[in-house]
Amino acid sequence: MVDSSLRGRDFISTQDWTLDELETLFTLAQVLKADKREGRPTPHLLAKTLYMIFFDASTRTRNSFETGMTQLGGHAIYLSPDKMQISHGENARDTANVLSRYGDGIAIRHCAYGEGNDYLNDVATHASIPLLNMQCDRYHPCQILADYLTIRERFGNTQGLKLGVAWTSAPNYVRPLSVPQSLILMMPRFGIDVTLAYPPEFKLMPDIEALAQANAEAADATFEITHDFEDAFRDADAVIPKSWGPLVTTQDTKEGLGLIEKYPTWRCGQDQMRLGKEHMIYMHPLPADRGREVTDEVIDGPQSVVYDEAENRLHVQKALMALTM
Ligand code: CP
Repeated sequence: MVDSSLRGRDFISTQDWTLDELETLFTLAQVLKADKREGRPTPHLLAKTLYMIFFDASTRTRNSFETGMTQLGGHAIYLSPDKMQISHGENARDTANVLSRYGDGIAIRHCAYGEGNDYLNDVATHASIPLLNMQCDRYHPCQILADYLTIRERFGNTQGLKLGVAWTSAPNYVRPLSVPQSLILMMPRFGIDVTLAYPPEFKLMPDIEALAQANAEAADATFEITHDFEDAFRDADAVIPKSWGPLVTTQDTKEGLGLIEKYPTWRCGQDQMRLGKEHMIYMHPLPADRGREVTDEVIDGPQSVVYDEAENRLHVQKALMALTM
């Protein structure tokens, strides 16, 4: 039987859920994962409909949500704003109210800086069904659930582990801040010491960095910011080297891409991997810019767990949908 205490809840940031609530989710995710691994049929917990609105491209998020919903006995509908009346200006209130009359959950990816999170909250305010965040400009909570499950599967107790989160140089587009921001918020709550490394122009939102510090202090963990790439790797148990844009410094795309080009040596290779503990794992939410963010040798090497991490998106999101919907 699935715990019903989270039914109807939104999931916009992990910060909105208590540790006990997150534990409930991880416990169910592990059960659903074991069922699938051992060939037992997934229980049909959801004869329901999820609307997935993607303002931005996706491989993992779309397919893991849609596949997960099918496995749970429900149906997920892929929606794109350019094919909806959002493109003609229909507001969040009308979209939220109408979808709430039809189905059972709304999931949204909207990463536009200064817009995405506001839009999600606007829909959540007007919807009478759960709103699930598939990534916005502030948070990517489902990715961080998968990351945490991956770390826990590898190490068991996570108290006192060191996680390095390092900015990397990837030149082709300006990526959102949501992955590093969600990492620094949630990981310290589970006792993980986080070192965040970035060049000065790539700082994260000040309120998020302050909240990460408060979360760490409350959990007897540490949160440190450094401008030295290799600090993130030294003595780490897990490392997530990942690009993001200098969006707090500038929202001008040309200027942002120019700043990314200033730091081409911020790339993860074997030299950095040797700085960590012998058992250190390499993680990345994907898609990775091979050759610029990371060498093939590392991402395809024995320390890489990137496909485990991607797989865990399916299991944590199935648990999320089963609990909230
Ligand atoms: N990690 C992740 O969210 O991947 P997609 O952008 O492919 O969904």
